[in-house]
Amino acid sequence: MTLKNQQLFWQQFRDNFVHVGAVLPSSPALGRASAFYLAQKQGPVRVLEAGAGTGAFTREIIPLLADGDSLDVVEINPHLTAYLHQRFQHEPQFKSSQGVKVHLVNADLLQFPFVGQYDYIIFSLPLTNFPPFLVQQFLELMMHHLKPNGVFSYVKYIFIGQVKYYASPNDTKANMDETRAIIQTFAQQYQFDRRVVMANVPPTWVHYWRK
Ligand SMILES: C[S@@+](CC[C@H](N)C(=O)[O-])C[C@H]1O[C@@H](n2cnc3c(N)ncnc32)[C@H](O)[C@@H]1O
Repeated sequence: MTLKNQQLFWQQFRDNFVHVGAVLPSSPALGRASAFYLAQKQGPVRVLEAGAGTGAFTREIIPLLADGDSLDVVEINPHLTAYLHQRFQHEPQFKSSQGVKVHLVNADLLQFPFVGQYDYIIFSLPLTNFPPFLVQQFLELMMHHLKPNGVFSYVKYIFIGQVKYYASPNDTKANMDETRAIIQTFAQQYQFDRRVVMANVPPTWVHYWRK
């Protein structure tokens, strides 16, 4: 991970902490865990990466893709998208195999003009920073655009939520309870696996849902 990458991420966190939701880009270990089921893919697949940041997950996803696969990368922050665009142009890890279609889009996921459904959705938006109605919208949208049998993965930091909960006023606590209940309802229907990644700041759960 370069200093430029970390500095840019930190600046964007400082200027826009609700959307960015983390002080550092994720580790390679967390990227690999998020793409764990994608790594077992069979045949051509469509992949969506939601909330790419500086490309910590993207660089783990690209080498897994082969001729006939496609990847849509959606990032709301124009500075992070521009940085990621440079990485696609200059860094070997971001060079995809022949026949792989990669589409990097600077957009709000809620406004993205979706076409069809995906086999894999790798999602790292900071859900717990959003109000409950938005959490519901994001998750409904993602499950709607996931193919039957497709796999959705999302990350959830360990400890941070609990610390924030106990340090928050009652109205924030009520929102956090509501968000947890929304995620739990989806998880009860779809979750089939989860794994912990200690090699990340902070340590993180990766949850896997199948439609
Ligand atoms: C926690 S960071 C994860 C970044 C990267 N995947 C990583 O693991 O280092 C969340 C990312 O989601 C992006 N994001 C937040 N809300 C978004 C939205 N509505 N649409 C698209 N991207 C969004 C943020 O700008 C940020 O880059």
